[in-house]
Amino acid sequence: MKKLMAANWKMYKTCDEARSTAEELVKLTATNLPADREVLVFPPFTALKGVADALAWQEGFFAGGQDYYIEEEGAFTGEISPKMLLDAGAVYGLTGHSERRHILGEGDEYIGKKTAYGLARGLKVILCVGEKIDERKGGEVEEVLERQIRVGLKDVPTDVAPDRLSIAYEPVWAIGTGEVAGPEEISAAHGFVRKILISIFGNNANEMRVLYGGSVKPGNCAEIIALDNVDGVLVGGASLEGESFSQIVLA
Ligand code: G3P
Repeated sequence: MKKLMAANWKMYKTCDEARSTAEELVKLTATNLPADREVLVFPPFTALKGVADALAWQEGFFAGGQDYYIEEEGAFTGEISPKMLLDAGAVYGLTGHSERRHILGEGDEYIGKKTAYGLARGLKVILCVGEKIDERKGGEVEEVLERQIRVGLKDVPTDVAPDRLSIAYEPVWAIGTGEVAGPEEISAAHGFVRKILISIFGNNANEMRVLYGGSVKPGNCAEIIALDNVDGVLVGGASLEGESFSQIVLA
């Protein structure tokens, strides 16, 4: 299974800035990208086509959409469909990100519909899960992860191709805080995520990627991706500069 090194640019970068960061990333990374790694960038929607074009000719590089709606088209002001993402060059879509759960108010049920819909419409999907600090302190990590995964994947066919579905474990308290989860916390959470995936998808789940996200940096990435059941990373802040993200990709 190839490690997936993913950048989430959130609500940062104009079209020009995004395209030139993508070009810089290719320049710094493409010739020495190990055969067992893939690179994925989630730019803001406005910059998606430019970034996808900059990455398209490069083997192992992909673009994705940070969100999408659960219809193909229609009177849904402000929304965007998987069909539109694919048309702009996206291969992946993201669901359940903590900022959409906790700032935009998306719930497990809607996230579940969205995950299944994106897969059915041809996207590869990464479902993000993760506990808040009070949930960790209250000993509820497994309960939260199990609920977010089971409801989030409720409508996904059990024979889904394993390379089309990934989970990103992003503890909310580690996102953008500089406070990375420790190796034991990451290993325990990823082992638990794998166990739940196996209970849903059987052996296929061993081929599904489980990414870690939350304050990943060039200096801590190598240690994190060497852990059992860590099949890649999803990086916010440290992915915004081409040089810093290329160090993460190659770590
Ligand atoms: O999706 C990536 C993310 O939420 C982690 O952000 O800035 O902690 O790497 P950051």
